[in-house]
Amino acid sequence: MTKLYIEGGRRLTGEIELQGSKNSALPLLAASMLIDGATLLHNCPDLSDVRAAIRILQSLGYKCKQVNNDVFIGDNMPSCDTVSPELMREMRSSSLFLGAILARCGSATITAPGGCELGPRPIDMHLKAISELGFSVKERGGYITCKRQFSPKNVDITLDFPSVGATENVILASCLSKSVVLLRNAAKEPEIADLADFLNKAGAKIRGAGTDRIEIIGVNRLTSIEHTVIPDRIVAATYMSAAAVTSGEIEIRNVNIEHIRRIINSFSEMGCDIVFCENTLRIRAPQRLNRIKTTRSTVYPGFPTDAGPLLVASLVKASGTSTFVETIFENRFNYIDELRRFGADIKVYNRVAVVEGVRQLHGAQVCCTDLRGGAAAIVVALASDGVSVIDKICHVERGYEKIEEKLSGVYANIKKE
Ligand code: EPZ
Repeated sequence: MTKLYIEGGRRLTGEIELQGSKNSALPLLAASMLIDGATLLHNCPDLSDVRAAIRILQSLGYKCKQVNNDVFIGDNMPSCDTVSPELMREMRSSSLFLGAILARCGSATITAPGGCELGPRPIDMHLKAISELGFSVKERGGYITCKRQFSPKNVDITLDFPSVGATENVILASCLSKSVVLLRNAAKEPEIADLADFLNKAGAKIRGAGTDRIEIIGVNRLTSIEHTVIPDRIVAATYMSAAAVTSGEIEIRNVNIEHIRRIINSFSEMGCDIVFCENTLRIRAPQRLNRIKTTRSTVYPGFPTDAGPLLVASLVKASGTSTFVETIFENRFNYIDELRRFGADIKVYNRVAVVEGVRQLHGAQVCCTDLRGGAAAIVVALASDGVSVIDKICHVERGYEKIEEKLSGVYANIKKE
């Protein structure tokens, strides 16, 4: 099992090129099924989750190949409407293919996505919306089978919660249809707008993406397009956290400032000096960060749940007591036990983490518990004196492209072996 070896205590300085967004690339790969022609995606990160999505596309009969950060998807119709349990298990977000398969085949069979490290990951809202779009939904023996029963002319759906995945599945299942769909309480994350931009470029009629009210007028056909995936806002937060916690100064290239305004506010509150123009951000950290009294995760444009572990990692040496409240996932704090191995003083009360800033941390042997928790362990290792060994980095490789190279490029002493 590959591990990361980090010698911490070094101030990070230099420039980092930000990767494309995993959470945009995945729905875009599903959406490529709807295109009657070839699709070319640029700035697609080279990640294990992206490779898993490509394998799902290939299993559905699509020619699909990634060369560096370009992904080419051939002009195919799906040869089947079923994603195998093995492939479903490989990636938690494979439920995103449900809407796309239904749009193309009129039927789909997937396995109920298992839980993940963050807790059970139900898709009840996805399925309720899909049944309102005219599909039957049958769950039996761990399999979910959906089949078009009728094509409603007008559909008015209100999500119980602005679920990112449910919003994406409604868009994917509706844009090639005979229906006019109004989706209320939709998720507003930037990845939704990127998906709508992609589909509209191909001829879809999707209005209001990025707001909580999205209208989709179904069309008959979507044609070939090229598209560039938006930058990854959570990876941006990760690099900002690495600079902040090492009193460093780095410049992040290819960032979308609009997508990280709430994250920028937090790092400014910690005492970091942040300047940005167009798509470059420069962050310079003080010798010691200020504590942040309370931060709550919430839906966009609030503080993103995925950046929570990186904020906690930034605050482990801050002056004073900081509190982070997780409101989206039920067990997002599995990683905190691992951060304690470095000497971090963090207490967890249900969904509240209380961080007492300490003066010094020491190298430790830790295991990644999940994608963003693993990234948090890497950040804390960078701020710890001595050598740390980070195991189970497969979690981190799901969402971070060449993280050891990128951090080495800003003077971190980090090796993968
Ligand atoms: C997306 O997950 C992201 N994944 C997650 O990023 C992110 O944390 C999450 O949105 C919130 O922003 C991708 O985009 C691939 P939700 P998703 O549906 O769509 C509950 C990462 O680190 N829920 O908005 O699954 C759900 O359990 C990942 O990159 C239901 O109960 O998130 C959760 O508690 C982790 N029933 C909450 O809603 C449903 O039908 C938010 O889920 C759907 C969701």
